[in-house]
Amino acid sequence: MKIVHVASELFPYMKTGGLADAVSSLAGALADNGHEVAVFLPGYRTALEHKDAAGAERRMRLRIEMGDQYLSGEVRVFAPRRNLTVYLICREEFFDRRNPYGNGERDYEDNADRFIFFCKGVVETLRLADLQADVVHAHDWQAALVPLLVRDAERKQGVTLAVKTVFTIHNIAYQGLFPRGIFAHTNLPEDFNSIDGLEYYEQTNLLKGGILFADRVTTVSPRYAQEIQTPEFGNGLEGVVQTREHDIVGLLNGVDMAVWNPGTDALLPARYTLANLAGKQACRAELLKRAGFAANFRGPIFGVVCRFVEQKGVDLILANRDFFLREDCRLIVLGSGEKRYEDDVRAMAAAAPAKVALSAKLDEAMSHLIEAGSDFFVMPSLFEPCGLNQMYSQVYGTLPIVSRVGGLIDTVTDVDEFPETGTGLMCAPTAAGLGEVLPRALRLFADKPRYAAAQRRGMIRDFSWKIAAAGYERLYQESL
Ligand code: ADP
Ligand code: GLC
Repeated sequence: MKIVHVASELFPYMKTGGLADAVSSLAGALADNGHEVAVFLPGYRTALEHKDAAGAERRMRLRIEMGDQYLSGEVRVFAPRRNLTVYLICREEFFDRRNPYGNGERDYEDNADRFIFFCKGVVETLRLADLQADVVHAHDWQAALVPLLVRDAERKQGVTLAVKTVFTIHNIAYQGLFPRGIFAHTNLPEDFNSIDGLEYYEQTNLLKGGILFADRVTTVSPRYAQEIQTPEFGNGLEGVVQTREHDIVGLLNGVDMAVWNPGTDALLPARYTLANLAGKQACRAELLKRAGFAANFRGPIFGVVCRFVEQKGVDLILANRDFFLREDCRLIVLGSGEKRYEDDVRAMAAAAPAKVALSAKLDEAMSHLIEAGSDFFVMPSLFEPCGLNQMYSQVYGTLPIVSRVGGLIDTVTDVDEFPETGTGLMCAPTAAGLGEVLPRALRLFADKPRYAAAQRRGMIRDFSWKIAAAGYERLYQESL
């Protein structure tokens, strides 16, 4: 099949979270299975500076209609591996920036125009390059206009650009909600500017368009597909999602074993496998050292890696500060995002500099080291569409402590509840829930055989992308 993916992040060219990993692994797995895969990404500075893009061809000039004006751009193309082509939709004014969505404090003011331009650039390239896609698969709000724009262009120009469109919701909390006036920049027919279209309480909601108008809709875990049909998790779009009840399916993300594999991970100081865990001890010592702690500490290490946003439950960790300060343990946090979390975690670390450490930045190598060197990976999310880190931690022999929400339910089994099959610990997504599970972690850590058995089950569980990729292939085939 000819499969075109459209997303605002793609590892290793631009990454702020799991979207980048998920799209990169899915595209790679499909390419390995012999499909002809193209991925469209905005021409961000980091992407253009990446060595893979060094020889990128300037393929096409773009002239994009945005409301009553035309904006120019260009497309650069490179092929990082067999069967995979990356198309960068470039326009300096929009994408030559250090961060993709905002300056840290707040979102860029021109985000609506940036991503409308991106989506239009994609559709125009499909036409100019005559890509003849079987499936055009768009991800999250930044690409949500693509299914609509594809059909609109086909109608206006009498061409076929895609046989079917698929839209994946990676996180319904981010909707691309903008003032109503931006609708005009899409140049879509006025019918779409209604309650049956993009209109949402007097605003324009881009995600809503993807959900309503793609041929098939997916979420990144089965559980999340159910949750977002309820007011608790639907973020106001539960009614919209319900209208697609029969076309929505949850396909669990996987782990890209070329990147996240303790046996081959070049970002670690030492490698290890289930048969020989000595390297994990070396990672532990290095992690303690990097965090500024004595390397011979023998008690439990709790690791955290996340975007600092409300979703990730950092507040729950802060609320359990006394536990971490009281018990003989270490807490090592890597996070970046909202400043208030950074300040609060830093204050906690300042109160107990020998026990709590914060690294407030994006650091790919450190994220691997925390997965490898910790004993527990703490992820008490308030909601979680899929979550990758809890899978990475199992592959790395580190027991996840997660809340019972979304994809975390689909990927972790509580070892106290299911002693024969458990791979981690689970709790309610509340401060009290986390407070209840942390002492259970201490008991599990003290019981070496029980800990080792759960660790082993996590390490042998098959989280590979083969399963997920097969799910998408089936979905594409069925829809075609
Ligand atoms: P989300 O996409 O909601 O952020 P996921 O668990 O799906 O959550 O994916 C998060 C990804 O981002 C993981 O690969 C994780 O290691 C990475 N990540 C998050 N924060 C950081 C950070 N501060 N430094 C490096 N990697 C990070
Ligand atoms: C989103 C979700 C996360 C998911 C990731 C990749 O960022 O928050 O749960 O794992 O997308 O699909």
